[in-house]
Formats: sequence, structure tokens, C-alpha cells
Amino acid sequence: MQLVHLTDLHFGCEDKTALAAAARYVSEHKPDAVIITGDISKDGLASELNNACDWMRDLGVPVMLTPGNHDVPYYEMWGRLAYPWKRFERAAEGIQTAPWHTDAWSIVPVNTARAWQVRMNWAQGEISRGQTAIAAAELQQAKPDALRIVITHHPLDWPNDAPIKGLTRGGQRALDKLVDAGAELFLAGHLHFASARLYRRKALSVVSGTLSQRVRHEPCAFTVIRRPLKDIIETEVVYIVQGLCETASIRQFRLNAPAEPGAPAEIHANV
Ligand SMILES: [Fe+2]
Repeated sequence: MQLVHLTDLHFGCEDKTALAAAARYVSEHKPDAVIITGDISKDGLASELNNACDWMRDLGVPVMLTPGNHDVPYYEMWGRLAYPWKRFERAAEGIQTAPWHTDAWSIVPVNTARAWQVRMNWAQGEISRGQTAIAAAELQQAKPDALRIVITHHPLDWPNDAPIKGLTRGGQRALDKLVDAGAELFLAGHLHFASARLYRRKALSVVSGTLSQRVRHEPCAFTVIRRPLKDIIETEVVYIVQGLCETASIRQFRLNAPAEPGAPAEIHANV
């Protein structure tokens, strides 16, 4: 099984060279699916959202999509209040946005973006108790050998070395509940920064880079996810440099490894 995780395309300030390289990678490697975790537009304009979704439809493989904080009408207060997701939903028609179960995977999307919030920074994410309960129930639909994946725009846990600080409200609570419900892999974006870390030795939390001009300390990037064995998840971070895809790292993580010393959870790293 091979999945490609893209995020933060930010059409409106997209990096056309990076998008072309990513599309070429997909057409050459033919992954089973492409997962896109939001911020597909810059300002939530219909033209940006439509262009982003048209680009996804041209990838030639199944695409799964969940929205980000930039996918609401960004500078339009009335739009945020009255029809926050209408343009996104219209643009994404025909693209998979609902939970997706196959023999190989269960992908459960949760929308952590909010049109408005009772806090200063509306770009931050939130996952409610209700959303967590629905996602946990959805994970119970997974086939026995399916990789159980939860996808969100905002990371539920925040990597220590992330280039921007923030907090996903309810994230820690949700992470624990979803791991208890069987989640094995979390995919997120928002940080424009590649990261992978194990959580409680039971699940892998992955954040991928951006394909936009809004890079932060790293070139445009995406992540390829493989599952060479049932309990092993491999991440390949691909940087796009001068229009070419370059492997930045390949790491393998063992889920459910024993906690004794000498049994490392990360079993192979090649940078
Ligand atoms: Fe974001």
C-alpha cells in the first residue's frame, strides 16, 4: 500500500513548479490514493477552491480531501457567518470527503477548521468532543487488516520543533480517545513543516509540508506513506527542489513495540 499525503496547496499563492512536480510524482508512482489535508486555497475564493479541486481531479488517482482554515471566505465576515463551507463543498463535489473504508485502509476525516471562534486567532484549530466521538465510532467500521487513519488540517498534537506555535483545542483529548479507538496514523498539515513522531508507541503522527509559496524554513514537500508490514509504517519525505522531487528522509516506525530498552520504536532511518 502506498499513499501520498499532500497539504496546504494554497491556490492563490500556489507554487506551480512544486504542484507540477508533485503531479508528475503521482502519475509515475501511481499511489493507491492521495490524501489532502486542507488549506487548498489562500483566501477561500471560489476561483481558488475550484482551481485546486480541478488540479486534484487531474491527478488520475483517487483523492481524499478535508478542509483547512483558509478554505472559508477568509476576509468576508458575512461569508464566514452565513455560508462558511458552501464554496468548499461546491468545489469538492465528486471528491471523497466522507469516511472511506477499504480492505487496506479506513480514512476518517475530521474538520478542525472553524469559521469563527471565541479567541483572537481564528486560524487555530479545534476538535470537539462530538467530533471525536463520531470519528472514534467510524474507526470501528474498519476491516480487520485496514490501516486506521485519522486526517485533520491542524495537528492534534503540536511538534516541539514546529516553526509556528499554536494549540489545537481538544487535540490532546481527541488523540488519546482516537488511539484508544484504534487509530494508528494521524495525518495533518497547517505547519508547512514535515514531522513524524510516535504517540504512546501505538500510533504515528505525521505533518507534511506545503506546495505553496508560503514555505517556512523548508522547501516545498510532501510525504509518501507505506506499510511494509502490518505494524510498520514507513514515511518518505520528498522535497521539491528546482522542480525535482528529492528524497529528504525515509523512516520506519514500529507500532506496538515493547517498551523495554533495546526495542527501539523507530527501526530504520535513512536521511
Ligand atoms: Fe492552515
